[in-house]
Amino acid sequence: MSNKIKIFVQRVKVLIQNLEAEVLASCRVGADVYLLRLQAPTIAEIARPGQFVHVRCSETLDPLLRRPLSIHDIGDGGGLVFLYQVRGRGTAWLARQQAGSRIDILGPLGRGFTLTTNKRIALVAGGLGIVPLLFIARQALENGNQVDFFYGARDRERLYQRETLQAMGVNLLLATDDGSAGFRGPVTKLWEQYLKERRYERAYACGPREELAEFAHLAARYDIPAEVSLEERMACGLGACRGCVTTLRDTTGNRYYENVCTGGPVFDAAAVEWEG
Ligand SMILES: Cc1cc2nc3c(=O)[nH]c(=O)nc-3n(C[C@H](O)[C@H](O)[C@H](O)COP(=O)(O)OP(=O)(O)OC[C@H]3O[C@@H](n4cnc5c(N)ncnc54)[C@H](O)[C@@H]3O)c2cc1C
Ligand code: FES
Repeated sequence: MSNKIKIFVQRVKVLIQNLEAEVLASCRVGADVYLLRLQAPTIAEIARPGQFVHVRCSETLDPLLRRPLSIHDIGDGGGLVFLYQVRGRGTAWLARQQAGSRIDILGPLGRGFTLTTNKRIALVAGGLGIVPLLFIARQALENGNQVDFFYGARDRERLYQRETLQAMGVNLLLATDDGSAGFRGPVTKLWEQYLKERRYERAYACGPREELAEFAHLAARYDIPAEVSLEERMACGLGACRGCVTTLRDTTGNRYYENVCTGGPVFDAAAVEWEG
């Protein structure tokens, strides 16, 4: 093994835990959406908002690849909380795991959000984009920030974790496509109304790509430093396979490429190439 690889493997070992986490609880909170609590104190202790874990979703080799899930919250006594939608075989396997089951997870992985203290910040979540933003909301409040949490979904049934957010003390501002809760229309339109009269010192978003592009556009127009959490299909999750590359542009407009698993999933909104 070359020296470079040895150093890389050592770093990974120090920073990342690979462990069998016990399922504390798993409950269905929507038609195909589950809230999962795992006991994983060594990961919970060092996890930062925006980071993810790579989950082995099988007792066999099928499916072979792990599935990435963002850390949704940190529970009491070393608990990790996840919120996920069943999409295919991996997440369907996960949904069958009950309290007492053990799950192989690797993490925390990736680059998280940049945290601030004593600022007014905006969080803009579309659909399951709430997942990493609830975790940052909790830390942001602990750091003395004022948090306006803009949360949009198709309808009120798909606005998960509203009670948790309200109990945390964020200023929760809802939007739905069908008008069944809060503002009728895209969550970015709701945010735009507030931007006209409120100055945010930092903004963060996660959600569908078109919504993130609109968020980045608004943040640039109002000159707000902003970060987004991106999703790409992943294989290794460790920066080795180059299977999750996204296109970015530096401040001079030059295009470059970055792994979402190691360079992200959180990126400066102004650096992401949204078109194409
Ligand atoms: C960093 C990161 C964090 C994530 N966090 C969460 C989370 O907290 N909650 C959650 O519900 N999901 C999250 N996802 C998406 C989740 O990883 C996928 O839904 C999951 O891997 C699907 O696995 P599966 O075996 O169930 O489905 P598969 O059989 O692998 O795929 C089923 C369908 O989903 C599509 N799909 C799978 N993965 C992705 C992806 N990454 N992006 C777009 N489409 C995809 C496939 O194209 C296919 O159509 C995250 C993804 C990334 C990259
Ligand atoms: S998933 Fe392999 S490099 Fe990102």
